[in-house]
Amino acid sequence: MTATLTPPATADTAMALELRDVTAGYSGTTVLRNIDLAIPVGVVTALLGPNGAGKSTLLKTVSGLIRPTSGSVHLDGVDVSKFAPFQRAALGLCHIPEGRGVFRSLTVRENLRLQAQPGTEAEATERCIAAFPILGERIGQIAGTLSGGQQQMLAMCRAYARSPRLVLVDEASLGLAPIVVDEIFTFLATITAEGSSLLIVDQFVSRALAMASTAYLLARGEIAFAGTSAELRDGDMFQRYLGGDA
Ligand SMILES: Nc1ncnc2c1ncn2[C@@H]1O[C@H](COP(=O)(O)OP(=O)(O)O)[C@@H](O)[C@H]1O
Ligand SMILES: [Mg+2]
Repeated sequence: MTATLTPPATADTAMALELRDVTAGYSGTTVLRNIDLAIPVGVVTALLGPNGAGKSTLLKTVSGLIRPTSGSVHLDGVDVSKFAPFQRAALGLCHIPEGRGVFRSLTVRENLRLQAQPGTEAEATERCIAAFPILGERIGQIAGTLSGGQQQMLAMCRAYARSPRLVLVDEASLGLAPIVVDEIFTFLATITAEGSSLLIVDQFVSRALAMASTAYLLARGEIAFAGTSAELRDGDMFQRYLGGDA
């Protein structure tokens, strides 16, 4: 890769997340190579790239579902490379995976209670229903029988129930009606306004860039661009890798 890499933040900025020279993949397959990434506290960052580039793999490496073969992962300055997913969650990390992370056989109410910190279930449920009133109307319904949009709303509530430090959002808008996509992006803006840092992967490249201030472009498992969203939108990398996607 011949791209010039512009670090998105200065060295003395507090970082919600840092990946240092991370190489990772699945048994026998290396997907991510020498990834350096830094997300300042309180900032929205877009992670973009073609299908198969390794975006979901990168998010899984952050949340601990995958361990890097080399390099390190830092949350708020703490090296969590050897931490299990639940330990990273306890430090304030929330991963909303691709494909709706809900318990399909449980009701909406049960899902909301499970997402909440013990002792705060009632309050968390109320907050989520205020954000997505339709979930209040469907509170006793089995989650697997909700529409795709409603299931995604329920999945998003995880980022609301615990006021996380950093939220990873993987393709939240995939397969949803435009009006639901609007609701999801409004919700993401709300959790940002309440102080969470965000790393978003989304097929709606222009919307993701409009919301983010910094952006990374991943191509074939390597960082092809790091800089501001505006630089990515206006540069030739955009056409080269994302032109057909926006
Ligand atoms: N569970 C897995 N086991 C082996 N290879 C995988 C697995 N998941 C994804 N891959 C491979 O890793 C590469 C990156 O995939 P992924 O991270 O899902 O890309 P993206 O999210 O950017 O579309 C692809 O070549 C994909 O086939
Ligand atoms: Mg993916």
